[in-house]
This record gives sequence, structure tokens and C-alpha cells, in this order.
Amino acid sequence: MSFTFDYEANADRLEEFESFIDKEKTKKGSLMAILHKGQKLFGYLPIEIQEIISKKTKIPIAEIYGVVTFYSQFSLVPKGKHEIGVCLGTACYVRGAQDVLDEVKDQLGIDVGGTTSDLNFSIQATRCIGACGLAPVMTISGDVYGKLKTEDIKEILDSYRNEEVKK
Ligand code: FES
Repeated sequence: MSFTFDYEANADRLEEFESFIDKEKTKKGSLMAILHKGQKLFGYLPIEIQEIISKKTKIPIAEIYGVVTFYSQFSLVPKGKHEIGVCLGTACYVRGAQDVLDEVKDQLGIDVGGTTSDLNFSIQATRCIGACGLAPVMTISGDVYGKLKTEDIKEILDSYRNEEVKK
């Protein structure tokens, strides 16, 4: 899934970002600071942003891409409005977390680390969240769902899909 970066909607952020780069670029090891700033401002680091960084810092785009994809705190796609975390810790895993995760992926048509094209959901696999008694567990926007069965997933996701309609 690819997302189009909206230059117009991000005009103010771009201005702030470009002056930040100008200020930082001569400092040693400035790339990480620049990437963190970009991630914070835009919520992700698409190729368009990496190109701006490359142009201003003269760091090759391949090097920037390598750093962005190496560190998990950076993302190439925007996060969804609802972040889903499926726990793959041991207790959840032995109680069927992989099936839960596969069902969530099937329902949304995206992979772990992906975001739906309507920007409504993104999926992460997480470590133990300390609710092992409820295994297998998933969270959506901070709400915890436990003792999950694959057949529960659709209804739970639908309740977030229909959120806007109910308002
Ligand atoms: S292993 Fe999933 S909550 Fe602990």
C-alpha cells in the first residue's frame, strides 16, 4: 500500500522541517535528529521527506532509507487512526495469538507494520503487555480485548469502523 504525501496540507510543517534541517545539518551525527524531527512532524518518513533531507544534507538517499528502515521508531507509512497491537508474548502465543493476528491481517487486508488505505487502522505485533491472564490479547487505541477467538475479531473491528457513523 502506498500513500501520497500531501505537500499542500503539510506546508507549515515542511517549512518548520526545512529550517530545522538547515540549523542541524552541519552538526556531527545530525541525521538521527533530523529523522526524529520528521517522524514527529509528519507521523512517518515517506520518500518525499527523505528526498528533502538528502537534497539539503547531501547524504545519499540510499543511506537515509537504510537508517529509516533499520530503526523501528521510524515508519515509512502513516499510522492509522486506530493502532492495533496483537500480543505475541509467550502466554498469548500458546493460546492462539498467531491465529488472532492472521485474522486481523485478513480482515484488514494489510500486514504487520501496515496501514489501511483509509488510514483507519494499522497493525503491530507486540511483546507481553502484562495481561497474560487474558491471553490471547489485543489492544485497539488503548482498549484491551482478551480471551480472543478468531470469530470475535470482525465484530470488534466493525465497532471501530462504525464509530464515525454512530456520532
Ligand atoms: S504474553 Fe500477551 S499479555 Fe502477556
